[in-house]
Amino acid sequence: MTSTPAIPRHIAIVMDGNGRWARLRHRPRSFGHNAGRKAVREVVEGCLREGVEALTLFAFSSENWQRPEEEVGALMALFVRALDKETDELHDQGVRLRFVGDLAAFDAPLRERMLAAMARTAGNRRLNLNIAVNYGGRWDIVQAARAAAAAVLRGELRAEAIDEAELGRRMCLGELPPLDLFIRTGGECRLSNFLLWQAAYAELHFTDTLWPDFDQACLRRAIEDFGRRERRYGRTGDQVAATGNQG
Ligand code: FPP
Repeated sequence: MTSTPAIPRHIAIVMDGNGRWARLRHRPRSFGHNAGRKAVREVVEGCLREGVEALTLFAFSSENWQRPEEEVGALMALFVRALDKETDELHDQGVRLRFVGDLAAFDAPLRERMLAAMARTAGNRRLNLNIAVNYGGRWDIVQAARAAAAAVLRGELRAEAIDEAELGRRMCLGELPPLDLFIRTGGECRLSNFLLWQAAYAELHFTDTLWPDFDQACLRRAIEDFGRRERRYGRTGDQVAATGNQG
């Protein structure tokens, strides 16, 4: 039997648990988000070491605007600081940084920093680091459908030619390797509107570890867990044994 390749090509993470981590220490939620930023660095290092091709992190959902104004402000300030501090090092490490989501909602200085970091690192190939901000999986499907409809109206695409591959290309991350491993920290077992389309055949890994405590050893455990899964893509176990477990 062909075994699952040990290393997932594309990992996505819902980084949950910053608030609880801070509460356990009697500190404000922003303290937890700041500690969460250090965990982002850990996981990027881990992915570089393991040879993962793409890492997609859920940093701010379309629904997170509903949080208290103070927390939203602290998160925005944290993103600015992280961009100012980390972009050089990420660039030196060969990381291509991309922000995915509806960026129009962010104020101009932050949006400009995001666009500048993306442009600066666009030629890098070692790791694709995608930060999902103001992102929702349903929004992503809607924007892809709209883009396809617009192509039909321009006469560039026939409506009958819209299939999964055609729509998939218009989804965020459409040109990256398919999502192999979806990790969620913080003990909840749900997708929370993250990468709904892309997660169709991803292996799911849920852990109680709070995000600021998620380190390279935790990433290794998740990758080992992934390596033990049999990926059937709708086939039987016997078929997989005969032909290998790639979709
Ligand atoms: C969820 O934990 C976490 C977030 C909404 C923010 C994620 C942001 C970071 C990890 C900061 C660093 C990110 C980058 C890209 C620099 P929660 O607040 O919902 O935790 P709780 O469930 O314990 O309340």
